[in-house]
Amino acid sequence: MENKTDFQYPHTFVLLGASGDLAKKKIYPTIWYLYRDNLLPKNTKFIGYARTKQSLEDIKEKSKKYIKVRPGEEKKLEEFWKANDYVTGSYDKRTDYELLNQHISKFEKGPTANRIFYLAVPPTVFEDVTVNIRNACIAIKGYTRVIIEKPFGRDDESSDKLSSHLASLFKEEQIYRIDHYLGKEMVQNLLTLRFANQIFSPSWNRENIASVLISFKEPFGTEGRGGYFDSFGIIRDVMQNHLLQILSLVAMEKPVTLNPNDIRDEKVKVLRHIKPIQLENVLVGQYVGNPNGQGEEKLGYLDDPTVPKGSVTPTYAITVLYIDNSRWQGVPFILRCGKALNERKAEVRVQYKNVPGDIFEGHAKRNELVIRVQPGEALYLKLMSKSPGMKFDLLETELDLTYSVRYKETDVPDAYERLILDVFTGTQMHFVRNDELKEAWRIFTPVLKELEEKHIKPLSYVYGSRGPPEADAKLAECDFKYSGSYKWQKPTPS
Ligand code: BG6
Repeated sequence: MENKTDFQYPHTFVLLGASGDLAKKKIYPTIWYLYRDNLLPKNTKFIGYARTKQSLEDIKEKSKKYIKVRPGEEKKLEEFWKANDYVTGSYDKRTDYELLNQHISKFEKGPTANRIFYLAVPPTVFEDVTVNIRNACIAIKGYTRVIIEKPFGRDDESSDKLSSHLASLFKEEQIYRIDHYLGKEMVQNLLTLRFANQIFSPSWNRENIASVLISFKEPFGTEGRGGYFDSFGIIRDVMQNHLLQILSLVAMEKPVTLNPNDIRDEKVKVLRHIKPIQLENVLVGQYVGNPNGQGEEKLGYLDDPTVPKGSVTPTYAITVLYIDNSRWQGVPFILRCGKALNERKAEVRVQYKNVPGDIFEGHAKRNELVIRVQPGEALYLKLMSKSPGMKFDLLETELDLTYSVRYKETDVPDAYERLILDVFTGTQMHFVRNDELKEAWRIFTPVLKELEEKHIKPLSYVYGSRGPPEADAKLAECDFKYSGSYKWQKPTPS
């Protein structure tokens, strides 16, 4: 029973794993913001479900620190909690889900009622939870949608197994695989930038572009999450999903329409042109403590007590991918990500080739289109201009669209807010389709296995640095020129 998306019907949002970290830090705050801004169907009931014996009061208390409430919103917050409930139950017993089903049914007045299940549960209970939802909690007078979070397996085989499992229970239209980078403003803007501007289309190809660098940097380490992180590593944690998703939006051909499946067809197509990554195209690093740093910075990855001794799990990686189609053949797409670096930043740099037939004695630097995803959304085009005044020198400058300056009044919503709302409206455009996931694992699995089987030792880099010193040489090898002569200054609002 799809398409009963009308907001007048009762909806139930069930949060499984309601006692966990993700729930208190992210999901409860998100549903509160959506509720506060009146974006959800009026008649929405929220039910937390988990093994922990606790009350709604406990949930309120735990998530308090993460829920932002502005003056004057206290009454609305009370109303929000009144629309919430908590049910204790196991993840593997059908009878507990039957009770949950009865609980949900109590609120489902009228001929139609829809259900959304958000699985904020560990991968170990994933199969039990989904089977039990299917067997005991499916909506009988409306749609059932299921939201799931990575990890979607840890290689091609485990991911295929999970996909077949899900496909045996739900239709693809019912499954919403979250990659929260697809909910970020500038990632969503890629489609508009590329296909609503004639200025970019003719130059978006191998004739004009030297390389594309997609980066993710975080200024903190694993922070007690080392146990989980160690069995995944940065390539699975960030690169194979978030960065590859950005790559497919940067590189794909124009979709036939904006229909979610037309868009995802093009994303899959471009991924199919990428061969599995070769080990020689990968550089991995792991952070060590900074003896001159403060607090956490003094500790390296291996000093985290939850990380196994001698682990070679990368916390930094650069991977170079090539897209073997007529638009991109030979253009390096460099994916770079790391934890415990010098700053927080996620951005795309499309670097153009040198101007042919140089008349400026090598002073003209390359153009670069920079799409800054975070922090502080911005889009700027680095270009050369004559230095203003009597001189005839060249000046590196930029055309700058910084959101906080240009769109002062607009609040950019958080990625999770957009994505959860999309599930209510039934929009799958910003969710990962099964075949995209399959291609992502096809590209990454062989090299991940090789790194592990050969026990490749990562290069060291100091907590708080720019990464392993060898990384710059790798970028230069890939035709990415870093001149160091230009630094973008965030404009200050007037
Ligand atoms: C998650 C990763 O998917 O993304 C984390 O598991 C990472 O390791 C996080 O910290 C980064 O998200 P954001 O939105 O803060 O850039």
